[in-house]
Order: sequence, then C-alpha cells, then structure tokens
Amino acid sequence: MLDALPKAAFSVLAGSSVLKRMASRYGMRNPGSFARRFIAGESVTEAIAAARILEQQGLTVTLDLLGESVSSSEEAAAATRSYADAMAEIDTAGVGRNISLKLTQLGLEVDRATCIDNLRRVLDRATAGNFFVRIDMENSPFTEQTLDVLETVWQIGYRNVGTVIQSYLRRSMKDVERLNAMGVRIRLVKGAYREPREVAYQQKAEVDAAFIELMRVLLRQGTYPAIATHDPAMIEATTSFATQERIAKDAFEFQMLYGIRRDLQASLSRQGYPFRVYVPFGKEWFPYFMRRLGERPANVGFVLRSLVREK
Ligand code: FDA
Repeated sequence: MLDALPKAAFSVLAGSSVLKRMASRYGMRNPGSFARRFIAGESVTEAIAAARILEQQGLTVTLDLLGESVSSSEEAAAATRSYADAMAEIDTAGVGRNISLKLTQLGLEVDRATCIDNLRRVLDRATAGNFFVRIDMENSPFTEQTLDVLETVWQIGYRNVGTVIQSYLRRSMKDVERLNAMGVRIRLVKGAYREPREVAYQQKAEVDAAFIELMRVLLRQGTYPAIATHDPAMIEATTSFATQERIAKDAFEFQMLYGIRRDLQASLSRQGYPFRVYVPFGKEWFPYFMRRLGERPANVGFVLRSLVREK
C-alpha cells in the first residue's frame, strides 16, 4: 500500500513545517532513531565516526554537510564557514578528503556572485587540504546555473571540483558532452526531484534507458566517472559494459547513499570496484530524509516501526 504513495506526496510533505518539527524532535534522538538509518548524525564528529567504520570495510566516502535553499547572504556565509570547519576536522581525523555540497546552500538563490565567492572559499580550503569537492545537482531551475558556476570556477583554474548529471533530464546528454570536453568529473544519478514532463522523463524505463546511454558515454569518454545508483540492473549494465569494452575496474567508481543497500556496497567492493559512500550529516537533514522516503515509500513502514518501538 505504501508503495503506491507517489513521489509528489513526499514532495508536498517535505514542505510541512509541523512534520519537520516532529521529525526533528524524534528522528535523531538516540542511536536507534529512524533518521539515523540514512543520516550519520548531526555533527561532523559523528560523520567522521561513520566514515571510519566504512573505511575499515574497504569503502571510501564523501561527506555532505546537509543544507539547501538558504535565502540570505548571512546564512550562505555561515554554511561556507561550517564547510571550512568540517574540512579542518576531517583533515585532523584523517578520513577521506572528499566532500559534497549544494550551491543553494552557498547562496545561489541569493545571487550568483555571492555563491561563486563562497564556493571559491570552500575550494581554496579544499585545495590546501587536498580535498575533492562534488557539487550536487538540485532541481531543474538550478541545472544551468550550477553548470555555469562550475564552468566559471573551472576557468579560474580550480580542478578539484566536479558535479552530478541526472539521467531523468532530457538535456543530460548535451551536458555530459559539455563537461567531458572540459575534463570535469561527473557523478551519474537518476535524479531525486519531482520534475515536469517538459524537462524530465516520467517513466522509470525511460530514465533507466537514459542512465545506461549516459553511463556508456561516461565510461568511454569521461574523466573518472562515478556511477551512483542502488539499482542492480544499472550496476549489471555498467559492469557488463566495462568488461565488454575492456575498461579497467579502477577507471570509474560506484557510489551509493549511506544506509542503502549495504549488501550491494560490500559485494561490489569485494569484487574490486572502487566504491564510495555518500555520508550525509548535519542538523538540516529533513529535506534529504524526505527525498529518501519518496524514492522508496516502503521506507515509511520502517520509520513507523521505529517510532512504535521508541514509544
Ligand atoms: P531506483 O530509484 O530505481 O531504485 C533501485 C533500487 O534501489 C530500489 O528498488 C531499492 O532496492 C533501492 N533504493 C533506491 N532508493 C532507495 C531508498 N531511498 N531507500 C531504500 N532503498 C532504495 N540525486 C540528485 O538529484 N542530485 C544529486 O546530486 C544526487 N546525488 C546522489 C549521490 C549518490 C552517491 C547517490 C547514490 C544518489 C544521489 N542522488 C542524487 C539520488 C538519485 O538521483 C536517486 O534518487 C537515488 O539514487 C535512487 O535511485 P536509484 O538509482 O537507486 O534507482
């Protein structure tokens, strides 16, 4: 029954401040609370602890300080400082030097110049600490702006930065060609937002077909691409194509989200594929959490069971 809930419903619920307040109260309260299945914790210390466990299992990580859609330059500056502080802690802890961030967290909705200034601060700190910075891709009103900001910092000379392409967007092949020509590292995903049919495929079969087509171009012509999916069919298509084309296992990497398909994460890593886990942390976890529920409404059952257990 829960599987019948449309992604759209979660998108509406994600805007509910009452739900957000309730979730924030119970979701992270103790180690067994429901949000902890998908989010490593509210502090960078907790994220580092989660990263250590994953690294002991032979996996690599990217740490994401959750946050998005800030509406003032003060909030954007605060997020930028938090990223710099997080990098300092990661540096000291000695876990993987790889972070993911969203441009609306750094002020893309405030104005382009603020966002670029903040991104440059993060990239300067990242360069000093030998970090790689992945710019996550948000919903389609930001696609062109995100690529444009990336191109701007690339032209300035930053090379420790890459981004994400979503296979559900009709425009993605052109974007992949544009970024491949520059030598930018791309993470390929299906796409997590609710998008109108004019810009995005609506059927799973179309999104999957586009994913396979983009994966092939990336494996042939991309710069160390990341294939980020939990879908066994997409993984099988990738490993088969790589074998057929004699593409080395370490010429690309697989990525999955923290807490999802841990069995597959371990199995791919055992087979010798470089594997990275996206480890989200921070106080602003609610929108991220709701997107994960929207991808697999059966997760709602898991949340409800956890709540009953807590009671
Ligand atoms: P699909 O949704 O078809 O799911 C295939 C199978 O995977 C399901 O049957 C289930 O078994 C499992 N599964 C998928 N989602 C699950 C969940 N939430 N809980 C439990 N099981 C689940 N999106 C975006 O728009 N911008 C971005 O920057 C990123 N970044 C990103 C980084 C990384 C490392 C990953 C893995 C994903 C993203 N995404 C993203 C999210 C992505 O767009 C997509 O929404 C999810 O990965 C789900 O799609 P799948 O490819 O897993 O396939």
